[in-house]
Amino acid sequence: MDTQALRERWLAAVAAAADSAALADAEARLFGPKGEVVDLVRSVTSLPKEARPAFGKAANALKQEVEAAVAARREQFAAAAMVRELDGGAFDPTEPGVRAPRGTLHPITIVQNELVDLFTSLGFQWQDGPEVESEFFNFDALNIPGDHPARESQDTFWLTDKNLLRTHTSPVQVRTLQRAVKQGFQPPLKVIVPGRVFRSETVDRTHEHTFYQMEGLVVDRAHGDSGISIANLIHTMKTCLRVVLERDVQVRLRPGFFPFVEPGFELDVNCPFCKGQGCPVCKQSGWIEILPCGMVHPNVLRAGGLDPEEFVGFAFGMGLQRVVMLRYGIDDIRQFMGGDHRFLAQFPEVSR
Ligand code: DAH
Repeated sequence: MDTQALRERWLAAVAAAADSAALADAEARLFGPKGEVVDLVRSVTSLPKEARPAFGKAANALKQEVEAAVAARREQFAAAAMVRELDGGAFDPTEPGVRAPRGTLHPITIVQNELVDLFTSLGFQWQDGPEVESEFFNFDALNIPGDHPARESQDTFWLTDKNLLRTHTSPVQVRTLQRAVKQGFQPPLKVIVPGRVFRSETVDRTHEHTFYQMEGLVVDRAHGDSGISIANLIHTMKTCLRVVLERDVQVRLRPGFFPFVEPGFELDVNCPFCKGQGCPVCKQSGWIEILPCGMVHPNVLRAGGLDPEEFVGFAFGMGLQRVVMLRYGIDDIRQFMGGDHRFLAQFPEVSR
């Protein structure tokens, strides 16, 4: 068999293919199931034994050469296509790229992060507690009596007889004290507890069944230099509000009742929108109620395993939604969990 003649014919066929479709045809004729090259390689079996090795070797070499020629021709077509595309203006390498969309942090996360940064810089530690809480930590240990209205089923999501979805972050106060005492309490203790809480509320503009709070607790010795007073509480609250509201604030304390503090306060901030002149946000009063707080009740210290004669503390419980609403001027609490991307995308991209 004259492999030289075949070689020339096949290479010529590859070279003659004018475009990639023609090349695909030529390839099928040569390498398809009944292709000529394949036939040549197979024909080795019809030869006498002695002739087979030399023929097989030559046939395979020829097959590889033609395959390489097909691949090279295909490359040529691809390169030519790219040049055509670039020259034809279909692709403009100077165009700016399409920017991949980036997520934004949820506004509650933004404010929570800032508060955590602030409080940790003041020496507070971050504590977590369970969202499924016991009646004991959520109520009893916090000096909330059995007949207190807050326990009723219209406020609390009860799970079983003794378990519930925590209605506030305050239960972590007693959990933290108990743990600290177990580990050999060394005052002072300063913790914050950011977390999710739940109440069986009818949802409207200002009420949600799921929301976020940040609890704070500071406990130190009652006697000696380290005694904690209401002045420390006010200073801490002012610092905290100045940071999250991004402006200097004036505050005032009013008496407020919470079973786990004595005395208890409602801390109001001078309305940042009208500077105290009166506007719809502060309902014309010039003040906005923002931060319930107080001096830790002796019964809470006792539940935590501390002697109230020896130790004293203050606590606060901030509603994060409320702070975020004030800071960004949001007037509907349902936005936070509504999942509307247009709402969320308004907040700045923040990477930490
Ligand atoms: N736990 C209270 C609530 O959810 C808020 C609160 C009030 C927390 C006074 C405190 C505090 O630590 O001292 O309504």
